[in-house]
Amino acid sequence: MRKPIVVAGSINLDLVASADHVPLPGETIIGKDFRTFHGGKGANQAVGVAKLGYPVSMLGNVGDDSFGSALKTALRQSGVAVQSVHAVKGSSGVALINIGGDGQNNIVVVPGANGKLQPKDITAHSALLRKAGMILAQLEIPLITLETLGAFAHRYKIPLMLDPAPARELPSGLLQVTGWITPNESETRILCGLPPTEPVTPATAARCANLLLERGPKNVAIKMGAQGAFIATADGIREMVPSFAVKAIDSTAAGDAFNAGLAVSLLSGKQPLVAARYATAVAAISVTRNGAQPSMPTAREVEKFLKSQK
Ligand code: RIB
Repeated sequence: MRKPIVVAGSINLDLVASADHVPLPGETIIGKDFRTFHGGKGANQAVGVAKLGYPVSMLGNVGDDSFGSALKTALRQSGVAVQSVHAVKGSSGVALINIGGDGQNNIVVVPGANGKLQPKDITAHSALLRKAGMILAQLEIPLITLETLGAFAHRYKIPLMLDPAPARELPSGLLQVTGWITPNESETRILCGLPPTEPVTPATAARCANLLLERGPKNVAIKMGAQGAFIATADGIREMVPSFAVKAIDSTAAGDAFNAGLAVSLLSGKQPLVAARYATAVAAISVTRNGAQPSMPTAREVEKFLKSQK
């Protein structure tokens, strides 16, 4: 029997404005379109896993506002088990997202209920977490809660995949219990102390992956958008997995799609490079669609896509 994936993380309502370009500091521009989508890095990853046909539970908070019940319902309807999603007093998490004509974005997240996920919530859901085949986490919940989660995963030998997004300094205790760390380019720059404008090339990624491995994680996947992903593992793999050429219209949640694909493929017994190729395909499809959760492909769509690339 397959052990479920448990995602402990954020659940947001995304308020998305599309325009010709993402505004520069101090600039006001006229947008083309405004839409709302169900998002949040945690919830996106959970929906990504469910759409790929793998059992998944979400552990997280929504607010006791109208957004909260809609967000929880959307998760359930996508096939995510939501017994461990609770409504807490106050507003749900929201993300303000600007999308430019090239599909690139910038995002401001206001955590709301996500910021109220406490270490005691990890303990309260230990029965669910202990059954997990893998735990997926990101950085949109309090760090102290993540540290408790990391210690729990370590104690029960459950692999932890940590998406260090949004980027911040990470305590060494958390890094040491991380099975996979999956920064994107900007997070890689922050984690490895590179200047904000330095391009992340495959050579830079290789250097940063080695630095990260020295700090504790067993495996690293650096998500490099149109370049692909750089994979580095404790047993010596150092390889760039190329991306697929697609027409990107919205890159929101591409990283979440990648993590969902990587986790599902690894738990299905695939080797890291094969799993990374699968994850890259999941992410490539997601950028051809609008929104966060609605952009996640099904397993059948990924298979069809991969066949079409041969
Ligand atoms: O990774 C994309 C997500 O980041 C969005 O859905 C938004 O909610 C923010 O959490």
